[in-house]
Amino acid sequence: MALYSEKVMDHFRNPRNVGVIEDANGIGEVGNAKCGDIMKMYLKIEDDIIQDVKFETFGCGSAIASSSMATELIKGKPVSEAMKLTNKAVAEALDGLPAYKMHCSVLAEEAIQSALEDYRNRTEKDN
Ligand code: FES
Repeated sequence: MALYSEKVMDHFRNPRNVGVIEDANGIGEVGNAKCGDIMKMYLKIEDDIIQDVKFETFGCGSAIASSSMATELIKGKPVSEAMKLTNKAVAEALDGLPAYKMHCSVLAEEAIQSALEDYRNRTEKDN
């Protein structure tokens, strides 16, 4: 059996939504101390909808594929739905990850949650 699914390879080779959003209103950065990988998520939220999302990942192929898939899963969705995104859903959408690579999908979940928290903090301050 191949180590990685076709979807993982596709999102690793052609990651979607890579980059920076200059006027993002939610930014989250997380890292995994063990492997040293770092993921940064940028959200542009308007009217409670994730209008745009981009990421920068300095990490392994699974981390890149997970970030890419995670951005696809939340783009255009309401904030409330993005808040429910789990690493399991990301891994499932990628047709699975090897057990020892599941923490890479956790990083994607955490990066999105951290960006959403940043968005909440900024909006609370504005109000
Ligand atoms: Fe750490 Fe993939 S090996 S995020």
